[in-house]
Amino acid sequence: MHILVNTGGGDAPGLNAVIRAVTLSGLRRGWKVTGIRRGYHGLLEPPSEGLIELTRDKVRGIAHLGGTILGTVNKGHPFEFITEVDGKKTTIDVSAEIMRRFREIGADAMIAIGGDGAFRIATRFTAMGMPIVGVPKTIDNDLSCTQATFGFDTAVTVATEAIDRLHSTAESHERIMVVEVMGRYAGWIAMHAGVAGNAHVILFPEIPYDIDSVVDRIKKRYASGRRYCIVVVAEGAMPRDGDISTIGTELGREVRLGGLAEKIGHYLGERTGFESRSLVLGHLQRGGSPTHRDRLLALRFGAAAVRMVEQGKFGHIVAYQPPHMVPVLMEEAIAVMKTVPLDSDTVQTARDLGICLGD
Ligand code: F6P
Repeated sequence: MHILVNTGGGDAPGLNAVIRAVTLSGLRRGWKVTGIRRGYHGLLEPPSEGLIELTRDKVRGIAHLGGTILGTVNKGHPFEFITEVDGKKTTIDVSAEIMRRFREIGADAMIAIGGDGAFRIATRFTAMGMPIVGVPKTIDNDLSCTQATFGFDTAVTVATEAIDRLHSTAESHERIMVVEVMGRYAGWIAMHAGVAGNAHVILFPEIPYDIDSVVDRIKKRYASGRRYCIVVVAEGAMPRDGDISTIGTELGREVRLGGLAEKIGHYLGERTGFESRSLVLGHLQRGGSPTHRDRLLALRFGAAAVRMVEQGKFGHIVAYQPPHMVPVLMEEAIAVMKTVPLDSDTVQTARDLGICLGD
């Protein structure tokens, strides 16, 4: 067997642990394991630049490292490959070329580590005859087929520590501090880090917020003598009567979100009369070493993916349905997004603690 492995989409702490587990599990079976650099793009490049033979040595000491030794891309993919024609950037379909290269190098299977975008691409390649097993990756935790994805725990840990640190400075200056965390369409990071970090307001995509109710809540809090406020906002939160906050579009990628904390911080400062500041945690949440929980999960995903290749479970992704790793059809895996259930115990806990959720 010769298996290929790639990483696609935004990076997440734990990717290297998956690569290590895939490599060691493959080598133990006597297989050859090759990494593709930069998603599928490495297959379009000369082998010396685009491919890397994954040996025991290549994956030694990488399980605890953030990022991905293979590199990743989250704009342009084989069906919308970004190129320049007559000096103008445009996208073309290079999937046939990728299929040709896959066969040419004698590969038997591909393990694609990525999020919903990567699985959409994998579904199309599966239909073209490429045997693929997917490994789910998203710090946003928004895939419904799996109870957890690696990277989320690390992101929440980083965000919680940041929120913890904001309390003392906010209190000293009697300020409203608005902190923006990741979460495009789902508020998992905001909800978990916000509750764990004792935020006073949490705004997230699942509850379009009413800014007047937030203003009200903050005024009451100050009036009662608790003269500071921590507001956690997910980047994808939106007002009841408005839209998500974006900072531009780029060819071949999803719209970039951003700017929400600054807008809300400014508005709350004006409306309440209290001083406010805002900050964006951004990619700090995706960088650095994975927590032990993410590391273990990632190693389990990698080893399970190799077992699924062995069993011929192509067109499936590995899903964590405790206590088991199970195959789930790729189409099913991306059909429903996992958002924060409003009747969940964590949301109920937030309400019981008196945290304002913007409604
Ligand atoms: O999907 C993961 C994610 O971290 C989102 O929360 C965020 O909007 C996006 O990736 C940011 O991507 P980029 O690395 O392109 O800034």
